[in-house]
Amino acid sequence: MKRTHLCNALRPADAGKTVTLVGWVDTKRDLGGVTFVDLRDREGITQVVFRPGQGSLQENAQRLKSESVIEITGTVTARTADTVNPKLATGSIEVVASHLTVHNHCQDLPFPMDDDKADKVNEDLRLEYRYLDLRRPRNLGLLKLRHQAARAIRAEMDQQGFIEVETPTLFKSTPEGAREFLVPSRLNPGEFYALSQSPQQYKQMLMVAGVERYYQMARCYRDEDLRADRQPEFTQVDIEMSFIDREDMYALIEGILKRTWKETLGVDLPTPFPRMAYQEAMNRFGIDKPDTRFGLEIQDFTALFKNSAFKVFQTAANTPGSVVRAINAKGLADLTQGELTNLETIAKSQGAKGLAFIKCEGGEWKSPITKFFSPEEKAALEKQLNITDGDIIFFAAAPWEQASNILGRIRLESAALLKAKGRLSLPTDQYNFLWVIEFPLMLWDEEEKRYLSAHHPFTAPVVEDEPLLATDPAKVRGQHYDIVLNGVELGGGSIRIHNPVVQKRVFEDVLKIPQDIVESRFGYMLKAFSYGAPPHGGIALGFDRVVAMLAGRSSIRDIVAFPKTQRGQDLMAQTPGAVTPKQLRELRIRTVEEEPKA
Ligand code: AMO
Ligand code: AMP
Repeated sequence: MKRTHLCNALRPADAGKTVTLVGWVDTKRDLGGVTFVDLRDREGITQVVFRPGQGSLQENAQRLKSESVIEITGTVTARTADTVNPKLATGSIEVVASHLTVHNHCQDLPFPMDDDKADKVNEDLRLEYRYLDLRRPRNLGLLKLRHQAARAIRAEMDQQGFIEVETPTLFKSTPEGAREFLVPSRLNPGEFYALSQSPQQYKQMLMVAGVERYYQMARCYRDEDLRADRQPEFTQVDIEMSFIDREDMYALIEGILKRTWKETLGVDLPTPFPRMAYQEAMNRFGIDKPDTRFGLEIQDFTALFKNSAFKVFQTAANTPGSVVRAINAKGLADLTQGELTNLETIAKSQGAKGLAFIKCEGGEWKSPITKFFSPEEKAALEKQLNITDGDIIFFAAAPWEQASNILGRIRLESAALLKAKGRLSLPTDQYNFLWVIEFPLMLWDEEEKRYLSAHHPFTAPVVEDEPLLATDPAKVRGQHYDIVLNGVELGGGSIRIHNPVVQKRVFEDVLKIPQDIVESRFGYMLKAFSYGAPPHGGIALGFDRVVAMLAGRSSIRDIVAFPKTQRGQDLMAQTPGAVTPKQLRELRIRTVEEEPKA
């Protein structure tokens, strides 16, 4: 089986040549006694013509079903001007067939393969037949895009002097991060590996080993609740460097992303990217990964409501640490009761007691709470929120972080509603990159009643803040940075602690991890840091998210060859699945029925 050309290759200059093509039957039409087959391979489509009067040739062609695999030999013929198909690269020629071999018949398809129809087919069905779904040119294009992005990144890393090192995925459990997948060790019964959430500790060891510039297209595994932007296994562009500061890291990542956008989409990204402190991101956008493509920014009215007649706001305004804030969802006053209820539910999911609002319609402010507002309060709201007819204002009176979370979610949901109603349109080629910096090192966890790392426990504090570790951990800033694009966290990293004394202090005094556990989990790191550890830092880009952004897709399932569903299943291979009792015995594992609910 030797093909002479790919299906995107032939042009009128090839007329008269005898060619052999292979591929899949894209479509078949019978017209006036002639059979036309659009033959498709990875690269394109060529029209093949079967004329009557050549024995069984045309009869066999007539019996072809979509997606059967065939090989044809024939003569390239220029099409007449009126039959040229301008939509195909090969639309000015056709191949008049003299031989047909059917390599494989295709049965009736479970869904139409035409891109526009298939995109509307239930995703579970498409995932069950993922090989068919992937065969569609649009999806093969996404795999190609992923390949091109990886190639651009590798080229840039190589040029910058990084070497790719593979690190183990069978690691040990480190419960300070995301929930892990456990792997039983047959050779060490009763003991478990954890699949690596990221190569974090190994890449730091590579710095101690003197590698200086490491990267890896690393597979990572996290047993998290899955969403459109989360897979249980995913790929990081994982990076670590020695003898650098934050500025070096920003420049490196900007260079990688610039090259990737240029080499895949031909887009020139302006650099450097803007930077925003965590505090400002939370104040203005209510989230640590702001989508800065639209406004609807949060405004503060804490001072305004200090003496308000509306008790809910007055109380919050006079409670230390609490704020009264609002956003103007411009032009959304006509939202339905259902949409309003949904917004309230979202606010309540963030711990809000309610979602006070003002609708501005027909020159009137309609709201259960405006009767409490003084003329001064109304005037100040109107001015600062730029209120005009058709707007709706949402309020949160709550502790600072909670108020940010509430209004951050309301802002995104309002933008989604405005988009759905055609009142907000975001150009598909707008790329608002943003560094979010100056995160706190620690966040207080109410449930566990202790500080948890905002990023991970290896992040270095800002040097001037180190003394506060002992006295006021909440005030310590971390040398942590996140790279954000259009509201999506593409990656994050930090400058690390390389001093064993500081690292031990963070584990034991701040995170309150008992000394024996620090020793068993992280003892080897502390030891390594006492044998000549260079100052170092790194970052990991979520490669799946990078590719999804390049592709303009909101779900990373679209750009993963064999993705898992929200329930963590591969519907094609039927993963996960049961194992035999013998396998379990070998591993000394016994499964138990779920405990009956009380
Ligand atoms: P972090 O946990 O922030 O950092 O992960 C880095 C990036 O990986 C991507 N990501 C995911 N992508 C798809 N599915 C998931 N389940 C998933 N989880 C994370 C995100 C995220 O920004 N070791 C540190 C990095 C460092 O400090 O160098 C780390 O893993 O895009
Ligand atoms: P109430 O006086 O409790 O009936 O609340 C009046 C309005 O304010 C209702 O629409 C509530 O949903 C809303 N509301 C109550 N508490 C808050 C809060 N902390 N922040 C924002 N709105 C609130």
